[in-house]
Amino acid sequence: MNDQGLNDGVVQLRDWADDDAAWYAESARDPEIQRFTTDPSTLDAAQVLAAINRMRASDREVGFVICDSITGAKLGNIALAHDGRVGELSYWLAAEARGRGVVTRALTLITSWAVRHIGLVELRLWAHQDNLASQRVALRAGYLRDPDRDKAQEAKGAVWPMHAFVLVPTGA
Ligand SMILES: CC(C)(COP(=O)(O)OP(=O)(O)OC[C@H]1O[C@@H](n2cnc3c(N)ncnc32)[C@H](O)[C@@H]1OP(=O)(O)O)[C@@H](O)C(=O)NCCC(=O)NCCS
Repeated sequence: MNDQGLNDGVVQLRDWADDDAAWYAESARDPEIQRFTTDPSTLDAAQVLAAINRMRASDREVGFVICDSITGAKLGNIALAHDGRVGELSYWLAAEARGRGVVTRALTLITSWAVRHIGLVELRLWAHQDNLASQRVALRAGYLRDPDRDKAQEAKGAVWPMHAFVLVPTGA
């Protein structure tokens, strides 16, 4: 993976290393991540490492650790699934890294990278109806509400009302 350019001086996106798996599993147990993402609370490091290896072998999935550009501290996760034209984003931030615009930066970086390096012509994401912070992040990163793609998603024994957002790059 060529991750040149995935750094805005505050936030850096880097490839997953094997020894990040335990951190991912531990961070994903956070109640807000459990509330708003499909990662199961039982996720362990071995399962995360298996997912990292599946991603490495795939030409349709990309994922990065969101890090502090200065200290290198791990802050969160951002992932992209795509078919070469259209991509879908997902993300979460560890509890201690929230509230300072980190995901807006990460989403902006991965979006422009995916347009330039993969050639995506449309990017989409979904946020739970009650997840106002995630919806704000999408709008701040330049995504627009796309109510026609709102969906009811089965997750964790419930049906989640998901709000859709879309970004079509200029010139696509
Ligand atoms: C949701 C999440 C991605 C937001 O990332 P973040 O970097 O902490 O976001 P920020 O602190 O920059 O907040 C973004 C905006 O939401 C607002 N916001 C934060 N919490 C809010 C809340 N509970 N209600 C309304 N707005 C809220 C902030 O004020 C900010 O608004 P602004 O753009 O007007 O300044 C992050 O908190 C997270 O990972 N949460 C747990 C997992 C999750 O929800 N993942 C996303 C699944 S779609």
